Amino acid sequence: MIIAPSILTADFCEIGKIIDEAVEAGIKWIHLDIMDGNWVINKTITFGPSMIKSIRKRVGDDIRIDCHLMITNAEETWKQFADAGVDLIIVHIEAVQNMHLLIDNIKQSGKKCGIVFNPSTPVSDVLPYLEKIDLVLVMSVVPGKGGQSFMPEVENKVRVLRKRIDAQNSTNGNKTQIMIDGGIKANNISLVNEWGVDVSVIGSGLINSEGSLLENLDKINDALAN
Ligand code: DX5
Ligand code: ZN
Repeated sequence: MIIAPSILTADFCEIGKIIDEAVEAGIKWIHLDIMDGNWVINKTITFGPSMIKSIRKRVGDDIRIDCHLMITNAEETWKQFADAGVDLIIVHIEAVQNMHLLIDNIKQSGKKCGIVFNPSTPVSDVLPYLEKIDLVLVMSVVPGKGGQSFMPEVENKVRVLRKRIDAQNSTNGNKTQIMIDGGIKANNISLVNEWGVDVSVIGSGLINSEGSLLENLDKINDALAN
């Protein structure tokens, strides 16, 4: 299981230090939540390509950075995120008109492409794209903010994807990864691991007032080991 911290609940004045702490703790993947003040239901605005550029500069090239685009016009703006230095661009299936074209464009730019879908969107909507994409992200909260409660009812979606991807892997070597995002903590990480998730995004479970990122990460790793 790969852990990808989300910095959404961090004090943005402390971002550099928090990212350094994550890298020192052995984190290899950072998840960046992009909201444009329009697409998510609570109309949040987070940050954009210039901050991503600074984060890339800070961590160097060995850390994988993904951007989770919760924006209306990913088809027009995805390249700004590619140019800012992300490795993987994750787009919402509910927000894109021509998904095949967008996947092709992102892949042709040399970046990896992922698709994410909301709790209310059926898993069948993403299945036609699985062979073309590098990652599929299952939302286990309604996107919009950190610190929400995990929705265990997404289990079936993960299991369907795991089965389908494993069957594909054996025929064409495709290694589409399954990511989960929302409400993941030390108390449910083993559960999603057992379902077959490859990458867990963790925001408030790592960056909170209860302990340092390192202490919280230790708890998560302990939960995974037991
Ligand atoms: C929610 C974001 C998540 C969020 C996760 O819209 O996509 O990445 O930051 O935060 P937690 O782990 O606190 O649910
Ligand atoms: Zn996210």
